[in-house]
Amino acid sequence: MDMKTFKINDAATTQALGQRLGQIVSAGDVILLDGDLGAGKTTFTKGLALGLGIERNIKSPTFTIIREYKTGRLPLYHMDVYRLEDGGGDELGLDEYFNGNGVCVVEWSQFVASELPTEYLKIAFKRDDRDLDSTNRTLTITAHGTHYTEILEQL
Ligand SMILES: Nc1ncnc2c1ncn2[C@@H]1O[C@H](COP(=O)(O)OP(=O)(O)O)[C@@H](O)[C@H]1O
Ligand SMILES: [Mg+2]
Repeated sequence: MDMKTFKINDAATTQALGQRLGQIVSAGDVILLDGDLGAGKTTFTKGLALGLGIERNIKSPTFTIIREYKTGRLPLYHMDVYRLEDGGGDELGLDEYFNGNGVCVVEWSQFVASELPTEYLKIAFKRDDRDLDSTNRTLTITAHGTHYTEILEQL
């Protein structure tokens, strides 16, 4: 497992890192985003979508669980599985998304741990300060599998 840490001081930088990843990902890639509410997972995903060439505004799929965007270089499947905290992830057919040709981005992936593939890029978002107004974040990115190690090296 390879790991990189990014100290980030504003939302625009988080989005820019997502955009860079969006330019690098390929068909079938799985990106897991973990961290508390407001840590920056959806902000990162907005950048990733831009990097894929998706111009539609990305809305948080908290209530819909999955949103699909098909106007970019690759399809984007943006999932927010927060509502599955108490289970139910096994009924969603997530496998079809993970094994498909799009790029899967999963917010709160720990809530569907048993459904996840064995190889993925995981990004942990952490607020550095207790102050909720602070824009400081630490992003810890870990690569699971050689394909994702290659991606991580380019970030
Ligand atoms: N460094 C940062 N990275 C990402 N978001 C930040 C940062 N600093 C402040 N923010 C703000 O924090 C909020 C993050 O919200 P969001 O991306 O929806 O988080 P999550 O999806 O993790 O709940 C946004 O309002 C964003 O503008
Ligand atoms: Mg979110």
